[in-house]
Amino acid sequence: MTELASSLKVKNVTLRNRLVMPPMATNKATPEGEVTRDLIEHYAERAIYPGMLIVEHSYVDPGGKLSVRQLGIHKDENVPGLKELSETIYEKGCVPCIQITHAGGASDPEVIGRTPVSASSNWYGDKDVKSLTVQEMQGIKERFTDAARRAKDAGFLALEVHGAHGFLLNQFASPLTNRREDGYGGTRDHMLRFPLEVVRAVREVIGDMVLMYRMGAWDGSDDGFKPDDAMYFGKRLEGAGVDIIDISGGLLGSRPEKFLGEQGYYIPHAEEVKKAVNVPVIGVGGIVEPSYADALVREGRVDLVAVGRELLKDPNWGRDILGKKA
Ligand SMILES: Cc1cc2nc3c(=O)[nH]c(=O)nc-3n(C[C@H](O)[C@H](O)[C@H](O)COP(=O)(O)O)c2cc1C
Repeated sequence: MTELASSLKVKNVTLRNRLVMPPMATNKATPEGEVTRDLIEHYAERAIYPGMLIVEHSYVDPGGKLSVRQLGIHKDENVPGLKELSETIYEKGCVPCIQITHAGGASDPEVIGRTPVSASSNWYGDKDVKSLTVQEMQGIKERFTDAARRAKDAGFLALEVHGAHGFLLNQFASPLTNRREDGYGGTRDHMLRFPLEVVRAVREVIGDMVLMYRMGAWDGSDDGFKPDDAMYFGKRLEGAGVDIIDISGGLLGSRPEKFLGEQGYYIPHAEEVKKAVNVPVIGVGGIVEPSYADALVREGRVDLVAVGRELLKDPNWGRDILGKKA
């Protein structure tokens, strides 16, 4: 047996193998963020091989929505559709996880019908972005915990809080986007405070469900979020009750053009964080060959490997290593 095919137990959940389908927006929901048949079929097809499938970024608050047909976990009415989705994934032997998010200053004003909010109002050029008050931040924290409760009610076995790719929690963690001078900015601990408050609040609501955090580990600039910040934040997340840390890029985004064709471009960042924590770490970035993914696990560079675009293209990606099931 290869290492990619080995199982992993996290809390009371067992992943049948180390392949993870990372969250990838499909824009197949209704304008109210509800699950559609098309969306269920998309995921049913791709849950055949991975050990875990992370359903795309789902907005916790209409004020943090990114696109018209984004999946929404912002209201109880959406829970039955989400339940059908989680059950569809589970029936294929795959652990269903869902990513919850607020896009913050990256939200589209035309989609949300109001001025986007962020840690502070710099960074966005001509775009009108409002700096959040502490009271408003408490409201957003509650939107996250309400969404987490819905994810649990909908039968997901794991939940991922989105803290990467320049969205709200990443905007707080990065010194490039956080210019606050209150207790939520100015020092590294202050900048990490709101993301950690959200994580702790979510942890309380979901009980022993598996909690994951997608961290934007690198902004690609000396003035931005850097590897030693990522190692420090990883330890703090572990202390706050996170069970799996999913490492991706920060303000550079998930697929920077400069890494085009480079296999494993965010793996070095995942390796750094893995040195600092005891919980499993997911690595990602341009992975194409199953043998490469297998070696990442075998060599102990990461615990779990996320393969996105290749699984979109070919739901049977990795079949030769993971076993013939279809
Ligand atoms: C179409 C598309 C949609 C994506 N949507 C999300 C998302 O909802 N949340 C997220 O954290 N990352 C998202 N990503 C980033 C992927 O999860 C992944 O990190 C990225 O594609 C790099 O992995 P890959 O090279 O294996 O595709 C998206 C990527 C693609 C291609």
